[in-house]
Amino acid sequence: MRFNIDTDKLWHDPYPDLMQIQALAPVVFVPQLDAALITRRLDVFTQEKRVDLLSSRQPLGLMTRLMGENMMRKDGLTHALERRQIFPSLSPRTVIDVWQSEFESITDKVIKKLKKQNNFDLLKDFALPVSGAALVAMTGLRKMTAFQMDQVSQAMIDGCANYKGDPFVEANCNSATQVIERHIDIMSAKLQKTPNKSVLSVLIQSGQPMYNIHANVKLVISGGQNEPRDAIAGTAAALLMHPVAYSHILNKKDWNQAFMEYSRWMSPIGMSPRQMTRDCNVLGYDFQKDDRVFLMYGAANRDPTVFKDPGLFDVQRNTGLAIPFGAGPHFCAGAAASKTLIAGVALPKLFAAFPNMKLTAPVEWRGWAFRGPLAVHVEVGL
Ligand code: HEM
Repeated sequence: MRFNIDTDKLWHDPYPDLMQIQALAPVVFVPQLDAALITRRLDVFTQEKRVDLLSSRQPLGLMTRLMGENMMRKDGLTHALERRQIFPSLSPRTVIDVWQSEFESITDKVIKKLKKQNNFDLLKDFALPVSGAALVAMTGLRKMTAFQMDQVSQAMIDGCANYKGDPFVEANCNSATQVIERHIDIMSAKLQKTPNKSVLSVLIQSGQPMYNIHANVKLVISGGQNEPRDAIAGTAAALLMHPVAYSHILNKKDWNQAFMEYSRWMSPIGMSPRQMTRDCNVLGYDFQKDDRVFLMYGAANRDPTVFKDPGLFDVQRNTGLAIPFGAGPHFCAGAAASKTLIAGVALPKLFAAFPNMKLTAPVEWRGWAFRGPLAVHVEVGL
């Protein structure tokens, strides 16, 4: 089964096409993406675990070429080992014991600055510096600013999606990875003498080779900035657009439910790519070795056989079956950090500081592989 898409339309709003593809068949080839899409929730959930068939390895892929071979592009025992090595930095225990208090003081500082303004962009002026500074702390690259962190992260994301081969995008990505390497060099010497729980420090302590450490720190930067940034601004925007949902969350003080429903509704990461290891038939589709497969979380999280009225932002629904963080061995390594940063700290502090906050312009979302609001302009009613 094939389905043609217009990539600009997909970037604007992927859901109409994704819903049609989902209704058509379990696996649908989209020529414009040169990939077969798995879109139904149960299929994504089950097939993602078949790592013998759907491999994460893509030695010639853009991510590997531009950022080095990180754990996201490895399978089996090699992946499991690197995952274990990074765990002491991002485990739920470390998040509570080490990062939560840092997240709190970072958020307080950003709010203090914003208290002087009546209008701001929640994305650029609040979510960006909060998630950037949190990532500076977690990676251990303490000499970077939050803004620099955002820039290098975005440059790598753009580089990994540069299927058209734009030389400017590639050059920008290469200079971002060089900036990161310089910061790793600066901090490595310090962290060898005084280790801490940062990603860089625990990877050095684990004895991982330096080229691997570079690749994995870049992975954490590319995966750990724009999703929390967009989820903070996006969840806040969704609550401001839905007053009944907002008062429900305020009454229950359940910011995690707001974040989880937002992540189901808008899936900050809409897909994860895989490559077939051999010729085979999966879900009725004949694959050939090396075919590209996209596990479509964005579509799975709006599967109408699982979620009633999936296009509605409904904070009272059960989000237990949503898979915004993935559903296999590559399940987001930063999930605990994200929940604490977004639902435990950033959103409650934002709404407590600005209880009369109102949107001053309609919010537009863009993207299908990564999806988030373009801007969230608010007035706080000083
Ligand atoms: C709203 C926030 C976030 C969302 C929705 C999200 C989502 C995801 C998804 C969908 C994957 C791929 C899962 C798969 O292929 O099975 C992933 C992987 C990953 N994420 Fe996140 N992420 C978020 C925040 C973060 C943060 C803050 C960090 C780091 C501090 C992070 C680090 C990683 C890493 C290292 C991987 C690769 C894991 C592996 O290969 O084993 N993420 N994330």
